[in-house]
Amino acid sequence: MKALILSGGSGTRLRPITFSSPKQLLPIANKPIIFYLIEKIANAGIRDIGIIVGDTSDEIMAAIGNGQKWNVNITYIHQSYPLGLAHAVKTAQDFIENSKFIMLLGDNLFSMELGPIIQNFDSSSFNSSLLLHKLEDPSGFGVAEVKNKKIVRLLEKPANYVSNLIITGVYLFDKNIFPAIDQITPSKRGELEITDAIQSMLENGKNISFEITEGWWKDTGTLKDLLKANELVLSGPVKHEAVIKNNVIENSTISNYVIIGKNCRLLNSYIGPYTSIGDNTFINNCSIENSILLEGSRLKDIKGKISSSLIGKNSRITGLKKQSPDISFFVGDNTEIYL
Ligand code: TTP
Repeated sequence: MKALILSGGSGTRLRPITFSSPKQLLPIANKPIIFYLIEKIANAGIRDIGIIVGDTSDEIMAAIGNGQKWNVNITYIHQSYPLGLAHAVKTAQDFIENSKFIMLLGDNLFSMELGPIIQNFDSSSFNSSLLLHKLEDPSGFGVAEVKNKKIVRLLEKPANYVSNLIITGVYLFDKNIFPAIDQITPSKRGELEITDAIQSMLENGKNISFEITEGWWKDTGTLKDLLKANELVLSGPVKHEAVIKNNVIENSTISNYVIIGKNCRLLNSYIGPYTSIGDNTFINNCSIENSILLEGSRLKDIKGKISSSLIGKNSRITGLKKQSPDISFFVGDNTEIYL
């Protein structure tokens, strides 16, 4: 088995932060999203990982390197333009060769380990297996229609209710995915859709199984979902806390479910639950919760409570000491704001 992580794309829904940082490197609990995926693949015993990269290839390659850190071999595969998930898979055909493989979307995060589903697929005769997630409100997602424990149809964001089983960003394939991709044409949004390719496999009599997620699963493609993923990881079984060394924390209260990086100065502030604070951050006279502050950010004298916010690298926000309402920021890198 090999693994393929899709880390190209445009990330338009996460602008402005994606103007300067690829979304797959955005930190959740101070660790880039894609690192969680590499760890899960390595834990499942797969050593050969292909990573699809696009415009942001330099940053992704600099952050991940050759994979030695995880004891895996990384091959970077350049996608000329983000022409869809199926196009990305097709671009990786030379890397995959005839292997079975697991494909992960580089901006998805989930709590379950991958070992069992990889082993189930590897030892089966199925041509594909999809990880499905039960959601009360599946509107806005691609869904799988299941009858007698078999997937019978896939639909991309159906207008009317068909199924509460949404298609996550975890797919397992054998080599039959490649001729299926050759048969499809671009969708209305101009992309080669992986759901269309899998639907084409179904129509050609291929066998497709599914697994249901255990625990939580999150697509982090929007700010709301990114913050939710941060909350889920910070409140999970691994305890995250302040790196005490080199940090100066004075006259401040830090609640549970917070992580604080290295070389930070926190003065006269309150840091509430589900907040991740990157390295070299300075916070004075502020109250923050449910937020992600990237490295080098500086917040000073903001009177209203800051929540549901993402502050980019080396960005500064300064209040003017007058009372302000509770406030939510979505600020890119290297930005200055005076309230
Ligand atoms: P999406 O979130 O569906 O697309 P996007 O990254 O272009 O974002 P947006 O819709 O906000 O503009 O992509 C899911 C994952 O797949 C993500 O990690 C990027 C990756 N991807 C590719 O590698 N190649 C592609 O052609 C596309 C569309 C996505």
